[in-house]
Amino acid sequence: MRRVLIACALLMSTDALADAKAGEKNAQLCLLCHKPGNVMGLAPLLEAQPSKYLVQATTEYKTGKRPDPFMKTNVADLSARDIKDIADYFASRAPMVGVWSADPAKVAAGAKRVAESKCASCHGPTFAGTDEVPRLAGQKPVYLRIQLEAFAAGRRAHPPIEIPFDRIGDFEAIAHYFAAAR
Ligand code: HEC
Ligand code: HEC
Repeated sequence: MRRVLIACALLMSTDALADAKAGEKNAQLCLLCHKPGNVMGLAPLLEAQPSKYLVQATTEYKTGKRPDPFMKTNVADLSARDIKDIADYFASRAPMVGVWSADPAKVAAGAKRVAESKCASCHGPTFAGTDEVPRLAGQKPVYLRIQLEAFAAGRRAHPPIEIPFDRIGDFEAIAHYFAAAR
């Protein structure tokens, strides 16, 4: 019995190791775009993003719920298992901090807007995200601005629906504030 248990434990740890390796291997394609200074320009950073959020977002590109022509092709052939392995890999990485140059005046204006709108109540006091709520701290500012514009225009859904993104404004400042957060 004892021997069986030990064998099971060994099997499980090699399985977990295999998943982590598969995740790291598959993530190399993603890193062609998802890194600072990539030529494609608009891809956000994925490091330290909660795994649940990454699985959800990646699956939404695959099904077309979140439409993006690049992302749809990139994830078309991934199984649910592949998506989970890649998500776990990125979630386990340290956040990238201080890679963007943020304008101090915009950071200050953004801080005010974000405090007024109580964004930290879900995204967390340090904007690190949790579960299905994405990390915003250290994210690429141009990506953040485009997402905020998409929420305001109704092109992308942001829960809860009551947040008046169309009236908050100052998206450039808010984006700089989050990009500079660590
Ligand atoms: C050719 C460039 C490119 C490649 C390769 C690529 N992506 Fe993306 N990805 C993008 C772009 C551009 C966006 C922003 C799309 C948008 O505005 O919704 C994005 C967005 C995302 C997001 C949304 C992140 C967030 O904060 O909401 C996830 C998750 C993601 N990609 C996962 C992946 C995974 C996993 C892979 C590898 C299997 C991958 N991407 C490969 C360009 C790429
Ligand atoms: C009730 C919880 C909640 C509050 C409050 C909240 N958010 Fe979010 N936010 C979310 C969730 C959940 C998502 C993921 C949406 C999805 O399903 O794609 C999100 C996504 C985002 C994204 C996209 C990030 C990415 O990686 O694509 C940005 C930017 C954002 N929120 C900014 C804000 C700002 C600015 C405020 C304050 C005005 C705010 N949020 C308040 C829950 C919240």
